[in-house]
Amino acid sequence: MATAYDIAMEQAEIKQDGGAPVVAVENLQKAFETQKVLNGMSLSVSRGETLAVLGRSGTGKSVLLRLIIGLDQPDSGSIRINGQEIVGLALDGMGEIRKKMGFLFQQAALYDSLTIAQNVAFPLERHRGEMSRSERGDRVEQLLAEVGMEGDLDKMPSDISGGMKKRVGLARALALEPEILLLDEPTAGLDPISSGEIDDLILKLQRERQMASIVVTHDLHSARTIANRLALLDQGNVVIAGSFEDLERSEIKFVKEFLK
Ligand SMILES: Nc1ncnc2c1ncn2[C@@H]1O[C@H](COP(=O)(O)OP(=O)(O)OP(=O)(O)O)[C@@H](O)[C@H]1O
Ligand SMILES: [Mg+2]
Repeated sequence: MATAYDIAMEQAEIKQDGGAPVVAVENLQKAFETQKVLNGMSLSVSRGETLAVLGRSGTGKSVLLRLIIGLDQPDSGSIRINGQEIVGLALDGMGEIRKKMGFLFQQAALYDSLTIAQNVAFPLERHRGEMSRSERGDRVEQLLAEVGMEGDLDKMPSDISGGMKKRVGLARALALEPEILLLDEPTAGLDPISSGEIDDLILKLQRERQMASIVVTHDLHSARTIANRLALLDQGNVVIAGSFEDLERSEIKFVKEFLK
């Protein structure tokens, strides 16, 4: 019979396994010309966890995501995805890893000349060549239904609202069933009701898919709703990382001011 000790050991193992970081960023430095943007930044996120990255405009939040996606290289430091170093990785290696990532850029960035359905089909056409046309069509419908956009398949991006564009962007980010979800300001520029809807959607997706997610946001309320952990950045570094309550308890002046 399993003793309490055995069970505790087993649980510890599960916890450890589930807790291994999917994305681990260490001591990341990035400058543009003489402007230091990331200054030795470290953070990590595990499976099933949502990390909200907060900070004032221009602190390097989008730069951080671009480095994790491999769209740009840091000057030094390490970025490991499931333990694999991606800094300095050649383009084809990065391509394989990028398939595990879904991302939504700050400006939703839908292709203007493609319909909503074609936008969501794009990553499938590119990376799931084995899918038949009809399978792809079904998958696109299913993805758009997940974000509540199933009625707008044939609309053009210019004909839908900002919140709807973000939802389509999310559907596209999910197309390849990513292990890692990177969202840059998913609620920026939206009214409180639409941003609440996006938050609910992110929470639902997270519950269903247990991804490792990093969500950049200015919106403290949204961060509190969707994230297990928050990291507040300033001057290219993490000032504090923890739960919302940890941030509230902090005596650091910058944290207090940010929360005000
Ligand atoms: N390709 C680039 N070339 C030169 N400077 C850049 C480049 N990309 C970003 N920067 C600079 O790096 C700094 C951080 O930019 P970043 O876009 O990461 O800010 P952010 O924290 O995302 O801000 P916001 O909240 O306004 O989106 C800014 O000063 C920006 O001008
Ligand atoms: Mg940004």
